[in-house]
Amino acid sequence: MSYVVIVLQGHSATNWKKQIKELLSEFSEQVSEQIQAGAYDEVLNETFDSPHAYFSIAFDEEEKVAAGMYLGTLMPTAMHRRLYIDAVVVNRKFRRQGILTRTLIPHMKKLATELGCRAIDLTSSKPNAQSAYLVAGFESPTTAFRLTL
Ligand SMILES: CC(C)(COP(=O)(O)OP(=O)(O)OC[C@H]1O[C@@H](n2cnc3c(N)ncnc32)[C@H](O)[C@@H]1OP(=O)(O)O)[C@@H](O)C(=O)NCCC(=O)NCCS
Repeated sequence: MSYVVIVLQGHSATNWKKQIKELLSEFSEQVSEQIQAGAYDEVLNETFDSPHAYFSIAFDEEEKVAAGMYLGTLMPTAMHRRLYIDAVVVNRKFRRQGILTRTLIPHMKKLATELGCRAIDLTSSKPNAQSAYLVAGFESPTTAFRLTL
């Protein structure tokens, strides 16, 4: 099975809102409930409007279905450009087929290179995803700090 990665920004991302929300619902039960309650609508709409946000969808052309996605955000920084990755998710029906390792991660590297980035940043608390990132060459050189507000 091969997948094309469709990169969406602005209006084209808005047109894919339904599929993007369906994929995000596959992240976890908790996220699914929050999406159904409309908890992410405002933030998602802001992200659709951002010129720095790249919604990247792994699309199965045969079945005409969005199989997985990530959101890449070009970080405005004081030094070099970095692509920040979040919302990495693969539709449950398509898991363990290598979509993360063979489609999404290579695409993150391609997109970041095209955007002139020197690094890709992400955080992951999921052991199965962590092992995929380590195999792909990601390192964990810093300690991440977060203040939850
Ligand atoms: C994590 C996730 C994106 C992996 O996507 P995927 O396309 O199924 O991953 P791949 O098929 O490319 O598998 C990559 C490797 O990750 C590991 N892995 C993936 N899913 C795993 C699982 N359920 N249990 C154990 N290891 C797993 C394996 O090492 C696997 O390699 P293998 O199949 O050769 O054993 C997917 O399970 C998912 O969407 N999970 C819910 C959301 C999430 O956790 N997102 C990541 C946040 S950083």
